[in-house]
Amino acid sequence: MSPETIRVALPGGRGYDVIAGTDLLASLGERARAALPPASKAAIVHDAGVPDTHLARARASLESAGFSVASKTVRPSERDKSLDTLRSLLEWLALERLARSDVVIALGGGIVGDVAGFAAASHRRGCGIVQCPTTLLAMVDASVGGKTGVNLEIEREGRPQLLKNAVGAFHQPSLVLADIDVLESLDPRDFRAGLAECIKHGMIAGAADDSDLSSWLDQNLARIAQREPETLARLVARDVAVKASIVADDEKETDPSGGRALLNLGHTFAHVIESISGFDLGTREPGVRHGEAVALGLIAASKTASELGLVDRAFIEGVRASLAAAGLPTRSRGFENAALGPDALISRMLDDKKSADDGLRLVLPMGPGTARVLESPALSAVHAGWEMIGAGARSPD
Ligand code: GLY
Repeated sequence: MSPETIRVALPGGRGYDVIAGTDLLASLGERARAALPPASKAAIVHDAGVPDTHLARARASLESAGFSVASKTVRPSERDKSLDTLRSLLEWLALERLARSDVVIALGGGIVGDVAGFAAASHRRGCGIVQCPTTLLAMVDASVGGKTGVNLEIEREGRPQLLKNAVGAFHQPSLVLADIDVLESLDPRDFRAGLAECIKHGMIAGAADDSDLSSWLDQNLARIAQREPETLARLVARDVAVKASIVADDEKETDPSGGRALLNLGHTFAHVIESISGFDLGTREPGVRHGEAVALGLIAASKTASELGLVDRAFIEGVRASLAAAGLPTRSRGFENAALGPDALISRMLDDKKSADDGLRLVLPMGPGTARVLESPALSAVHAGWEMIGAGARSPD
């Protein structure tokens, strides 16, 4: 199977290719060399969960293309997507004397890509980065578009709170290599979590002239669930094409009418779900994966939109059916334990950096393949969105 190449067309020399296909890690070295000709050293930042065989393949390929290679492990948890991890990476890059013309290789899921990307953006005020995503979520979303960063843990009114992606930088990669082979060993729950971002892309794909993406996804779900390589490569390529088109039009998310903000569909709900599951439930790790929280967020956003008359009831059911067919949650039981009702959750949403200073700013669906940004939506509608996914429900005895 020949790989598919999608160009992220950005001005000022910031454009790059995303390559999706099989057996790509074996060509990482030569492709990185072509994307970054002056680099002589490659610093691999890899996910503790990435199988040794993938790391060995990446390393061997880089070495045979003439790079000297160093590597460092990062724990792929939201709590470790932190300023402490960033600091340890920056100290390591300094010790390794990585030059500005050299390259960081992020080999892992979205967390590793984000923190390694931020380290690359900060080291000597910006060195090169090649993203080698190893999860479906990172392939279709996190590795593309140049958003990098870490979470912040703050204490507000005596309670610890996780602010997702509160600190970061836009730093575009020079290349993204999505080797489908690595998905074969991906944990089933993580694989399903990635499908939430694919379903989200289908819900906004009209903005990228691919209105058929949602129905293609629904029709191919069985092949995708079996991880058939050709279908997965097509899925990643189509999803990346949607994201690439949106990012090329609004690289830094400044378009007030939508643009890149559309990619945040469901995310204002999701970030609150992640933050309460990680802290208020007292566990070290969020009880939900990002993609699972996004799945719930997509339903809450659809219900909010239906309360506002933007979509009909059948639309919500369609979204819910797609998510359920992909094995994703459509209702959470975590809220009862956290004793948080819709009003408390709405006030948490206001802490999300994607909200405007003076009110809630939400991306809401407008119909199949279409969404828009809405300023200060009626809070009763948002309340109904939270209720639909279980907030405010009484705990079963
Ligand atoms: N994941 C949203 C974005 O890249 O803009």
